[in-house]
This record gives sequence, C-alpha cells and structure tokens, in this order.
Amino acid sequence: MSATLAAVILAAGQGTRMKSTLPKVLHEVAGQPMLAHVITGAGMLGADPIVAVIGHGADRVRAACAAPGVTFALQAEQLGTGHALQCAAPDLAGFRGDLLLLCGDVPLLRVETLIALLDHHRAAQATVTVLTAILANPHGYGRIIRGDDGVERIVEEKDATPAERAVREINTGIYVFAAPRVFSLLAGLSNNNAQGEYYLTDVIAAARSARERVAALAVAHAEEAMGINDRVQLAEAGALLRGRINEKHLRAGVTLVDPAATYIDPEVIIGPDTVIHPGVHLRGRSVIGRDCLVEPGVIISDCTLADRVHVKAGSVLSEATVGADTDIGPMAHLRPGTVLAGENKIGNFVETKKAAIGRGSKASHLTYLGDAEIGTGVNVGCGTITCNYDGVNKHVTVIEDEVFVGSDVQFVAPVRIGKGSLIGAGSTITRDVPPEALAISRAEQKNIEGWVSRKRKKSREE
Ligand code: UD1
Ligand code: CA
Repeated sequence: MSATLAAVILAAGQGTRMKSTLPKVLHEVAGQPMLAHVITGAGMLGADPIVAVIGHGADRVRAACAAPGVTFALQAEQLGTGHALQCAAPDLAGFRGDLLLLCGDVPLLRVETLIALLDHHRAAQATVTVLTAILANPHGYGRIIRGDDGVERIVEEKDATPAERAVREINTGIYVFAAPRVFSLLAGLSNNNAQGEYYLTDVIAAARSARERVAALAVAHAEEAMGINDRVQLAEAGALLRGRINEKHLRAGVTLVDPAATYIDPEVIIGPDTVIHPGVHLRGRSVIGRDCLVEPGVIISDCTLADRVHVKAGSVLSEATVGADTDIGPMAHLRPGTVLAGENKIGNFVETKKAAIGRGSKASHLTYLGDAEIGTGVNVGCGTITCNYDGVNKHVTVIEDEVFVGSDVQFVAPVRIGKGSLIGAGSTITRDVPPEALAISRAEQKNIEGWVSRKRKKSREE
C-alpha cells in the first residue's frame, strides 16, 4: 500500500488481570504471541515503520517479537495511552502521513477492517478517525459521545456520567491519526481525570476544539475489536481465531473432521482433499500437501509434507521434510533434520533425527535412526539403533542403497554399510561393511542337550 503509512502498537501495560509473570502481549493465541498477530497485520498493510511501545517485561517482549521493520520504543513508566504514543515520537521523526494506532492486546482485527478504517480516514481528510463498536454491554470501555456533526469526544467509564455510560458505542482503542499533527495535539493534553493519566482519547476533543475533522467508523463484527485482559478472554480469542483459520481451510477443500478440536497456526498451508482428524496440532510454518491423511493426536511443527502422506495417530513431527506417498506412525517421532525422499514407511515407535532416508526405504518398528544417511530401497529391521553418540561427539552412519538390516542391529558410528549388503539379526556393527557382503557379529549359538532336566533334578535332591 501507500508509503505514507506508519503504525504504532501500544504494548507497555502490565496486564495485571492475566495473573502472570509473562507480559500480557506475549500470551499466545493460535500459536503466536498476541503482539505478533498485531505486528503481522501492520506488516500486511505495508506500514513502515512499525513502532511497538513497550514497558513491562520490555526485554522479553523485544526478544519474542523482533521482526524486520519493527522498532521498539520504551515507555519506562505507564502514564497513560496518550503518553505511550508520545514515547514513539522519536521513532517517527520526519514521518508525514497516516499513523495507524493499534493495541498489542487486540489481536483479532482483520486486515480488511483496518483497510476500511484507512480508506474512511483518507476520504474524510480527518485529523483523527476512530474505530468504534456497538456493544450490548459497553461496560469498561470509553464511550463515543456524538454531537450534531459527529463525534465530539470520548469519555472513559470512570469519568462518565450515568447518561454517558448508557451509550453503547464504544472506543475500540484503534485509530488513524494525521502525523505529525497528532504529536502537537498530544503535547497539549493534561492528566486531569479520574485515573491521573494522559488519555489518548482526549486527542479527539482537542482536534474538535481546533476545528479539525474527526471521523468514526463502526466495526461490522464487534468481536474483532475484542481486547484481552484476562485468561477467559484469551481463551475466547483463541477459539475465535482458530475458527477463522479453520473456516479458511474448510472453504479451500480441506476436511476437518471436528474443527473445534483442530489447532492450526495462521501460517500453515494445507492442500485440498487432505483430511485432518481431531486433536491434531499443525504449527509454525508447516506445509501439508494434498490428499494427505492426518490421524488423531498428531503434532506437526515446521514440517513440509508432500502429497498423499499418511500420518497415523499419536505421531510427533518437528522440522522434518516428508516426500510423497509416505506412511508414518502410529506413534513415530520425526525430529529436526529428518528428510524422507518419498514412498517411505516409518512405523510405530521409530525415532529419526538428522536422518536423510532415500526413496522407498523402510523402518517399520522400534528403531532409532540419528545422524544417518540411508540410501534407496533399504529395509531397516525392528529394533535397529544407530549409536551416534560416543559421549563427546556425534558420528554418522551411512547405509547405502538396497541394504537389508536384520532385527536388533546396532551400528556404532562412524560406520559405512556398502550397497546391497545384508546385516544379520542381533549384530553390533563397529566396522565398515563392503558392498554385497553379509556382516554378522554375534556369538555362535550353543545348544546344551538335557541341561534343563539335569538342573531340575539337582534342585529336587537339595
Ligand atoms: C483504552 C481507552 C478506552 C478504550 C479501550 C479499548 C484510553 C484512555 N482509553 O482503555 O477508551 O475503550 O482502551 O480497549 O486510551 N498502554 C501503554 N501505556 C500506558 C497505558 C496503556 O502502552 O501508559 C497500552 C496497554 O498496554 C494496552 C493499551 O495501551 O495495550 C490500552 O491500555 P489500557 O490500560 O488497557 O486502556 P483501557 O483502560 O482499556
Ligand atoms: Ca484494555
């Protein structure tokens, strides 16, 4: 959008009602801190710069929400919303244009709504445009006081008369201001009110006294403007946001068997005809292909799955890449650095980490493959372990194409298993195996005839 848009996000407050040691804006909705949702929205509008005003837990907030194009302004003491915007002034020195003011604890506003607010502001050529909402229960919010020609001022609940409290149009706390004009209006504010704070809302009356235009736009869906003050509202906001995300996937051709019990982060991409069962969490920047089946209780974080992947119940996948036509689980654990080429089978109780596994290779049961390079068409038997750690360093196991590994084999890395070789069950492999060889390293079996009956007889005699 226009290069003359900046955003300021107020996020310095403590959030006492969260009853938390975590700063309020870092509490998560749909897998991201609420402030991160607000920053993403401002970024989508093309706001530059984006200034977050922080105070309580400033270091943690900065660390958690740092992003390109975002600067942080410190409000050391919380003297009110008007004072908070003033703290962002140095970051906006020389900025001339539309200043969008957002709140770090109002994470559900849609970009479409903010575009409508900006359009309204530009069309009205206003000094201030406020986003309002009509609520059945306006308790606690600032009320919009209208006169013969529009909004005259905003009065806080604590400063309002009974007649003013009856007004159901409220201030969402979201505005567009003309900058730098707003900063000269802020400089004239006083803190002569019930809370002894510098109220940003007073900019409206100040603009009106200066005979400048004030505009207002009522948000169509009031729940978008929901501010989060406690964990009841946090849970409600989470459910609303998930509902919105899930609806988008349903409309795009993804089946969610029970949307209310499906947890998908905002940036996840899912192909059509994929079926997702209840209790599934798709997190981070995961990409799921088309025609996949994800069974109950699966957690997938920052993974890429190609088409027709079947993830069976209870599996956990993190930072893994999975090729097409692969079956995983039930109860498999794919850890970071797992790369499956495709047509693989990773069965129950198999754990992989930093493992590149070639096309068509299988590990069907009870296996650990870590720091491993495995070729195509390899069969890894039940109970196989790559012993990758000697207590100090990690070492790599290489298994070339078409190797057959019997059950209960340990590969003590570093070790290389040549193409087409066969590893006998129960072997501990400590040296490289040449191609096409049979490697076997277990004690030869002894059968001692009659041993058990002799032993039984002896114990009866005692
Ligand atoms: C504010 C508005 C009220 C509006 C409501 C909408 C004022 C005076 N009142 O009230 O009209 O209906 O929001 O939710 O603006 N913050 C700072 N520094 C401060 C104070 C606040 O950064 O010194 C931040 C808070 O962290 C929060 C936002 O500003 O993100 C709003 O502050 P809050 O104290 O929650 O204002 P309300 O009393 O809810
Ligand atoms: Ca509030």
